[in-house]
Amino acid sequence: MTNYSLPRHIAIIMDGNGRWAKKRFLPRTLGHQAGVEAVRRVIRRSVERKIEVLSLFAFSSENWRRPPTEVNFLFELFLSALKRETVKLHEQNVRLRVIGEVSRFDDKLRQHILDAQAMTAKNTGMTLVIAANYGGQWDICEAIKKLAVDIEQQRLASHDITPERIAAHLAFADLPNPDLFIRTSGEQRISNFMLWQMAYTELYFTDVLWPDFNAEELDKAIDFFVGRERRFGYISEQLQVSHA
Ligand code: IPE
Ligand code: IPE
Ligand code: MG
Repeated sequence: MTNYSLPRHIAIIMDGNGRWAKKRFLPRTLGHQAGVEAVRRVIRRSVERKIEVLSLFAFSSENWRRPPTEVNFLFELFLSALKRETVKLHEQNVRLRVIGEVSRFDDKLRQHILDAQAMTAKNTGMTLVIAANYGGQWDICEAIKKLAVDIEQQRLASHDITPERIAAHLAFADLPNPDLFIRTSGEQRISNFMLWQMAYTELYFTDVLWPDFNAEELDKAIDFFVGRERRFGYISEQLQVSHA
């Protein structure tokens, strides 16, 4: 039995900007710039395909380790994309959410994030999640801190900690878990993306470098997903009975 429904939530590690530039003897920054075009294409296609949630990993907790000039460039690019694209997102009825440790960003970027979220908050189309200074381990750690406060203040007993209670405190608590994960550029790792939420996500890897990713490549990934049987621990025959 295959799965005929579309993914509700697609999560993407947009990887390969640097290699795309290197192949063309260009600075890495131009690879990141070209990556923004791919972001635009993929958002548009996801809206067309009626995807409910699209999550894009823009900057990981570990990306601070990169040379400061590249880190600064990435934040400038994020700010300019927010300034330029928010109205277009709004016109597409997209709701923007930024998740991650934003407290480390400067005031100007934080304000633009708040404004963009506020402008699009009531939109009813796709939710676009930008994971910026995000790490799956950070996310789980924050959830545990909140539970620890509940225990300290005697609102919760330690034996009442359940997977559901942990999940309820994660950054994506109100969104469905990703159904389909895509990573470009040939790397086959999770790199500290949504560790908890991806427990049952279908994983799709492609050699295409992120700046070359487009609507057709997204469709290929969705086709891959549609062909998978998701068992969630059951055996195939049980699923056939329940869908008969
Ligand atoms: C992804 O491309 C963009 C970010 C991590 C911000 P990379 O910059 O990782 O590109 P490669 O992996 O060096 O090719
Ligand atoms: C993961 O890509 C993070 C983002 C795309 C934002 P990296 O290129 O930083 O991952 P590693 O270091 O190769 O695992
Ligand atoms: Mg990379």
